[in-house]
Amino acid sequence: MKSKVLLYTRFERFWHWFQAFLIIFLLATGFEIHGTFHMLGYGAACYWHNLAGMTLLILTAFAIFWHLTTGQWRHYQPCSENLKKIAGYYCVGIMRGEPHPFRKSPERKLNPLQALSYFFLKVFLLPLQLLSGLIYYFYNDWLNWGFALRLDSVAIVHTALAFVLLIFLIVHIYLTTTGGTLISYTMAMITGWEEIDEEICG
Ligand code: HEM
Repeated sequence: MKSKVLLYTRFERFWHWFQAFLIIFLLATGFEIHGTFHMLGYGAACYWHNLAGMTLLILTAFAIFWHLTTGQWRHYQPCSENLKKIAGYYCVGIMRGEPHPFRKSPERKLNPLQALSYFFLKVFLLPLQLLSGLIYYFYNDWLNWGFALRLDSVAIVHTALAFVLLIFLIVHIYLTTTGGTLISYTMAMITGWEEIDEEICG
């Protein structure tokens, strides 16, 4: 039996889509600054990249506040239980059309593999990228304050993390297509409501 459950609150959906837009925009302008392609021109790409970077920092501060005050941070607590089963599903079961071994609920929105990967994204990857971006942005000030930073080291870290984020984004978008229909997971993140199969136990 299927039932519709409200999984994502209004703020969560706003944050998700705004963050997705900013990350894609930062990747595009960042790789233009890097010289990968030409779209806006170097000067404009720098201007918009820095503006989007600052906006992402502000959005992240609001999101941290929201996660802490609502207790939603608990969804990202990684746990090893059923991890093998879920990994097995994504490697083999999904190709055989088997049902997903995890049942989402408002109390446990993320399967153990998702919790682990989002934990890595939110606790390591994004903070490091925001921090290296800030160091890059205030590079001349760091030098004036007496910190002996090498610009090429900051640039290498910032660019390497951008590649990891790009890979994360590609895998993330692929996984959004593995629901009941190609867009059912995406629709859930737009409307907040998702159809859950009650017979599957997680
Ligand atoms: C998801 C987040 C981000 C991604 C994917 C990203 C990506 C990139 C990439 C690929 C470059 C080119 C690096 C090079 O070739 O040297 C770059 C440059 C740069 N990024 Fe980011 N970035 C992000 C966030 C930020 C943030 C939060 C800031 C802080 C304001 C920032 C500030 C800068 C600065 C200052 C540069 C050098 C260009 C300039 O002088 O304006 N970035 N970024």
